[in-house]
Amino acid sequence: MLTVSHLQAAYGAAQVLFDISFEVGGGEVVTLLGRNGMGKTTTVKTIMGLLRPKGGEIRFDGRLLSGLPPFRIAQQGIGLVPEGRQVFPTLTVEENLVATAASRFGPPSWTLERIYELFPRLKERRGNLGSQLSGGEQQMLAIGRALMTNPKLLILDEATEGLAPLIRAEIWDCLRRLKAERLAIIVIDKNVDALVSLADRHVIVEKGRVVWSGTSAELRADPTVKDRFLHV
Ligand SMILES: Nc1ncnc2c1ncn2[C@@H]1O[C@H](COP(=O)(O)OP(=O)(O)O)[C@@H](O)[C@H]1O
Ligand SMILES: [Mg+2]
Repeated sequence: MLTVSHLQAAYGAAQVLFDISFEVGGGEVVTLLGRNGMGKTTTVKTIMGLLRPKGGEIRFDGRLLSGLPPFRIAQQGIGLVPEGRQVFPTLTVEENLVATAASRFGPPSWTLERIYELFPRLKERRGNLGSQLSGGEQQMLAIGRALMTNPKLLILDEATEGLAPLIRAEIWDCLRRLKAERLAIIVIDKNVDALVSLADRHVIVEKGRVVWSGTSAELRADPTVKDRFLHV
C-alpha cells in the first residue's frame, strides 16, 4: 500500500534523511522506532508532503505521492495524528471533528457517531473547547479528527507521549480495534513493549537511515536490537 524507497530529505542545507526505505501493506501495523532526533517525524512530514523529498520516492497504492501538496496526499487516504496533537483550541470537540470531514475523499465510512462510539469520552465533551481538554482527550480528538478523513492509512507520531498509563492503555485499545478493522497504521512511540504486542513489523531509524527492520517475533528474539538502537 505505502512504499517508501530511498527517501532523502533536508531542512534547507541540513540533510536529515539519507536513506529511508520501508513498506506498509494493507491492514498492517508498522512502527517507526529510534531515539530522539533520528528522523522519525521528518519521515512522516515528508510522506504527508509537508517537506519536499530531496531524493527517493513515496508511492501509495502505486501512485507517486512525492511532490503532491499535503491536501492531495491526505485525499489519497492518509490521515495524520501529528506530534503535539494540534487540536484547534478555540473550536469545540464536535467542530474539530467536523472541520476535517470536509477534506474526506471517497464514501464516508467514519461518522461522528462512530467516533463517539470509539471514544465515549469525546461524546461527553462534545461541546467543550479543544483548549479545555486533558492531554488524553486531545489525543482521542486528534485520532478522531484523522479518522473523519476516511483514511486507508493512519499515521500517529508519538501516539501516547505525555499520557498517563490508563489513558495510554485506552489509546492502544483503540489502535487494536482499528487494526481489527483492517486499517493500516504507522505508529511512532517510545513504549516499545506495547508496540511489540500491537504491531506486525518494526522499522528502526538512526541518523536518517533505516538500520534494522523486522517482525515483532524477530524483535523479541534479539534483545540486543533494543540495546543497540533504542536505549539512551
Ligand atoms: N524544522 C527543522 N529545521 C531544522 N532541523 C530540524 C527541524 N526539525 C527537525 N530538525 C532536525 O532533524 C533531525 C531529525 O528530527 P526529527 O525528525 O524531528 O526526529 P525524531 O522525530 O526522530 O525525534 C534532528 O536533528 C532535528 O534537530
Ligand atoms: Mg519526532
